[in-house]
Amino acid sequence: MTSIDTDERRLTTKSKDFYLDVIQSLTEVPKRLSSKYFYDKKGDSLFQAIMNSPDYYLTRCEMEIFKCQAKEIVDSLIAPTLDFELIELGPGNCAKSIHLLRTLVSANASFNYVPIDISENVISELQSFLPNTAPGLRFNGLVGDYFDALAIHSLLPATRKVVMCLGGNIGNMTVVESNQFCKKLRSYLQPGDQCIIGFDLVKHPAVIKLAYDDRDGLTRDFNLNLLTRINRELDADFRIDQFEHYCSYDPLTGAAKSYLVCLSDMVVDISGTTIRFEKDECIWTEISQKYSKSQIHQMATDNGFIHTAEFLDSRSWLMDAIWTAV
Ligand code: AVJ
Repeated sequence: MTSIDTDERRLTTKSKDFYLDVIQSLTEVPKRLSSKYFYDKKGDSLFQAIMNSPDYYLTRCEMEIFKCQAKEIVDSLIAPTLDFELIELGPGNCAKSIHLLRTLVSANASFNYVPIDISENVISELQSFLPNTAPGLRFNGLVGDYFDALAIHSLLPATRKVVMCLGGNIGNMTVVESNQFCKKLRSYLQPGDQCIIGFDLVKHPAVIKLAYDDRDGLTRDFNLNLLTRINRELDADFRIDQFEHYCSYDPLTGAAKSYLVCLSDMVVDISGTTIRFEKDECIWTEISQKYSKSQIHQMATDNGFIHTAEFLDSRSWLMDAIWTAV
């Protein structure tokens, strides 16, 4: 293991965390890699392409909800009559929440919009275009971990909070993890504070399967890009042509899972650490969990919330739930 120390020293602090996480999850049985590493520059642009793909429905469904029902969503919030903070975890380009923001601004609601993202890029883009897209909007973006940022904001318990978590981001957690997430989120809120959470709903399994195995191979490229990123940033030598994208959807559990299948026995060097792969061995790279309506209602009550309202797209494929902390 001494060789790790020497090679490791060449990595920056940031890539060292990445390195340690990659080594740890690839030495687990079965092997894993976290989907949070999909989003480098190439990954961001592939994800953009996925969102525009006819086979990937999630973005269009949620967009429809925010475009067509922004007024109703605002009406179901307790906050607009008071001063409040509208916190968005992982705002992306704000394409969905902008409809809500504009509706609130034109209703003269007194609020401060707080987008929080781990990507500095996302926040700086927002800083530059929000003043034009939503004139009159008060906002201050934060770069960092969701809960670190929420911890700071919970120091203002007197201010009403509405926390938004859209885009089915909660889907990238297992059912156990998303319950932990909701409990933790609740711990930063006061009774009466609310959250708006996007859940992808269970539906015909073939529709879900296709969304994660699209006909243009965008999701395949997105998944494989993780190995390209590791090769580049962690000085590794994955033979990428020897890996294949595979995805499954299990209607019994609602879990869509993506894997990278290794096509031949292989020894991979990652900054001096050796990882062995066997032919047909799979690396589990992502979960996209789907929920039934009743599971969502249950999840609210199990974690200290009341399921106050729900908004669906015209096909009932995706739900934005409004929960109120009790
Ligand atoms: C960004 C987590 C909502 O799981 O549907 C898209 C990411 N992965 N295609 C999802 C993703 C493969 C996406 N979320």
